[in-house]
Parts: sequence; C-alpha cells; structure tokens
Amino acid sequence: MRIIAHRGASAYEPENTLRSFERAVAQGADWIELDVRLTADGHPVVLHSSDLAATTDGRGLVEETSLAALRLLDAGAGERVPTLDEVLEHFARRCGLYVELKAPGAPYALALALRRHSSVPALVTCSFDTDLVREAVALLPGVPSAWLSGHTGIDLAPEALQAGASLVHLCWQSEGTRPDRLVTKELLEHYPRAGLGVVLWHEERPAVLAALLRLPVWGVCTNTPDVAVRLRAVGRSDS
Ligand code: G3P
Ligand code: CA
Repeated sequence: MRIIAHRGASAYEPENTLRSFERAVAQGADWIELDVRLTADGHPVVLHSSDLAATTDGRGLVEETSLAALRLLDAGAGERVPTLDEVLEHFARRCGLYVELKAPGAPYALALALRRHSSVPALVTCSFDTDLVREAVALLPGVPSAWLSGHTGIDLAPEALQAGASLVHLCWQSEGTRPDRLVTKELLEHYPRAGLGVVLWHEERPAVLAALLRLPVWGVCTNTPDVAVRLRAVGRSDS
C-alpha cells in the first residue's frame, strides 16, 4: 500500500510546486503525484491545468507560453511553476514519482528528461488518455503505467490492457459520500486476475481514507498525506 501525495501535500501548499512536494515527503508520503505539460517551446513543466489562471497569477495557456515567461509567474506562496527536471533532481531519490502525462508530447519529453537524470528508482506514468499511456509504455520499457478513469460500473480492464497499462487508477472522488463502497471484493479480485494493480482516487475525508487504506490496492492518492500516514500506522498497530 503506497500513499501517493496528489499534486504534493496540496491540502497545505500550492499544488504541484516544489514546496508542496517537500511537504509531502516531510509528512511521510511514499510517492508524489505530479502533472506534466509542455510549454510553447517544448519544455516539460509541472502544473495541472492548461489554463494558467487556474493555479498561477498568469493568463493564457501553458502550451502558448514560453518557459521563460512561465517562470515569471507566481504558482502560489511565491513558488514558481517547476520544470520536470527540477522535480526529478530534487525528489527522484527521495520518493516514488507518479507522473501524470497531461499533454501530447509529454511521454517523449519525460523519456528525454530521464536520460538527463539516470537515477530514478521508482517511477510510474499515468494518464486519462490511452494514447499517452500507450506512448509512455513504448518509450519507457519496464516503467509501469496507469490508466486513469472516472467511470464506474464498467470493466476497465480491456481498454487498460490494450493500452499496455499495468494499473487502473479509479478516479471516483466525486462519486458521492462513500465511494469506497464501490470498491467491492469482486472488483479487487478481478483487476489483479487480469494482471492489473489498482490505484484509488485522491481522498481526504479521514473515515473514507481509513477505509481505503485497509484495501489490498497498489496505492491511494490523497491531498493530505500526513492524515493517511497516521491512519495507516494506526491500522497496522490494530492488526
Ligand atoms: O487521483 C486522481 C488523480 O491522480 C488524477 O486527477 O485531476 O489531479 O489529474 P487530476
Ligand atoms: Ca494529476
């Protein structure tokens, strides 16, 4: 069971910033989740939305903005939008990296970045876009990839396997008050039988998070890694 800090310790710090990732590692997260997009001049950078106004004081789209212009923006608390290289340099040897590929070209940019950072011991790629999963799997042999999906009530295995994914990531954070109740025993048997590990959405409600942390899944995302680490420790001492 891996605790994956979703966009870092994003409940406490500006998401997808070095500060947020530092806080996540300090809180004991096993992995950090980060979103990769490309600038107009093709540099891989770490931010969630294509719309700069969503998380920075800038305007316009990241893919229409140069790296130099992007680096002038405030991503919260005076933080800059990090480059992928910065995240690899600061965190690759301190925690696992769960890298969401958010834009065309991101898998190739990640593959090039990995050549510049030879030591990245724990890496998983993921995407909502099966084409990007497929591309990542082809470019990065041996690096597991997760297919992210918000769908409930359908078998995600055929599409995930067709894309070459090793994991399905269930993004059910908006599915009512107790989405953990959708993660049935049958489902937890089905995906591993199909050769797929399961990753669960980002959850912050302590009662729901505690329930997720008891499940036999590959990992659980959360914006509050400190709460998850505490709940996991309590669960271990109870068992
Ligand atoms: O757990 C869901 C997450 O990993 C993907 O969602 O919206 O942060 O890219 P998002
Ligand atoms: Ca993400």
